[in-house]
Amino acid sequence: MTQNLTLTGIQWGDEGKGKIVDFLAARFDAIVRFQGGNNAGHTIVVGGTTFKLSSIPSGILTPKKLNVIGGGTVLDPWAFLQEMSHLAQLGIDISPQNLVIADNTPLILPVHKALDALREKAAGDSKIGTTLRGIGPAYEDKVGRRSIRVADLTDSTTLRSMIDHLYQHHNIWRRGMGEDELDPQQVFQDLIKIAPEIVRFAQPAWRRLDEIQSNGGSILFEGAQGALLDIEYGSYPFVTSSSTLPGAAASGGGLGPGRLGHILGICKAYCTRVGAGPFPSEISDEMGAFLAAKGHERGTVTGRPRRCGWFDAVLARQVCKIAGVNSLALTKLDVLQGIDELKVCTAYELDGQTIDYFPTSPQEQARLKPIFESLPTWREPIEMAQELPTHARQYIARIEEWVGIPISLLSISPKREDTLILTQDF
Ligand code: IMP
Repeated sequence: MTQNLTLTGIQWGDEGKGKIVDFLAARFDAIVRFQGGNNAGHTIVVGGTTFKLSSIPSGILTPKKLNVIGGGTVLDPWAFLQEMSHLAQLGIDISPQNLVIADNTPLILPVHKALDALREKAAGDSKIGTTLRGIGPAYEDKVGRRSIRVADLTDSTTLRSMIDHLYQHHNIWRRGMGEDELDPQQVFQDLIKIAPEIVRFAQPAWRRLDEIQSNGGSILFEGAQGALLDIEYGSYPFVTSSSTLPGAAASGGGLGPGRLGHILGICKAYCTRVGAGPFPSEISDEMGAFLAAKGHERGTVTGRPRRCGWFDAVLARQVCKIAGVNSLALTKLDVLQGIDELKVCTAYELDGQTIDYFPTSPQEQARLKPIFESLPTWREPIEMAQELPTHARQYIARIEEWVGIPISLLSISPKREDTLILTQDF
């Protein structure tokens, strides 16, 4: 029996999780998203077709797998239906046979998107740079015990009064911001119209997953965003509003901490970040622009350019400890081929002292100066059938040494088939 696996981004998201989940999906019986929502953008290239997924797990392209949108996520029902029809146009049929939505999943409603946008606008230069998908406000309502959840779509009388309660709360806020109030009747009607299309996928997902496990099946938990965007351990407040660490898969998937299996961290061979916030190893000269162009570093969801930087071994080591990572998948090594210089951030200087961790205080984070080590570059292309260039191998070995975690998977292009298993430890 294959052991379960939990895939977790160890940078600021966009590490290539979608591609790796798609590559691994054939070995598992179910693929589970356990946090985040359609702020995620997973790009997968199979046989010349590019698929873009946001709310739907990346196992959906593999036939006969159960994909689960877990209760730890937040779901925009309209965006979900759009994503489903985009996939149908590309020949991917989605039915309750291959997709389940946990019925305790909170919904993202138009009021959440509106609030996300209002807050970002009001924050001016100190905005977070969110994806404007309403993620933060939807999670706030979940914790505030006001959410409309998927199960609530089955009873229109209760649904109406829940929406009234939710909109009362938001309209107080909107009045304070000098904004027009929003009409609960409108969203109620819109929701009732699409409710059957959502409810047909709804189930207590934990039961399906438990059944799969009891019958000897295995599960892949698919993280979204990355550990540096985690609400507790990320570069707060420039983070997303969910726990992105593997521990969240236990509750967000509904199977408990003993069933997370192998924790596979995933990182790029360099770093990127979309949105505002500290980024100690950021490259602000033309090398950054070069990596952005060669690595096609543009947000899948928002189309915004991603900031680029050198691999940050300090952050990677810190996150791997917090997340309990067992081994790593390294992606986009191909982007570094042919560059003139190659650096890795191995420590920071803070007020004249060398430190080997990322401090918690945003003020200290802003004062960090990266300490870089230079490494030899390589000109030879990285190809599947060939030995890796010597300096590429050295780079991998040095990352393993700095981070203290073995690299078990290597991705050298966006294509499913361009993935190398270095050690079969999961
Ligand atoms: P939110 O998740 O939309 O609230 O955005 C909060 C922060 O997380 C912003 O800096 C976003 O750019 C970032 N973010 C959210 N989702 C992703 C993702 O999937 N990849 C990369 N960055 C993300």
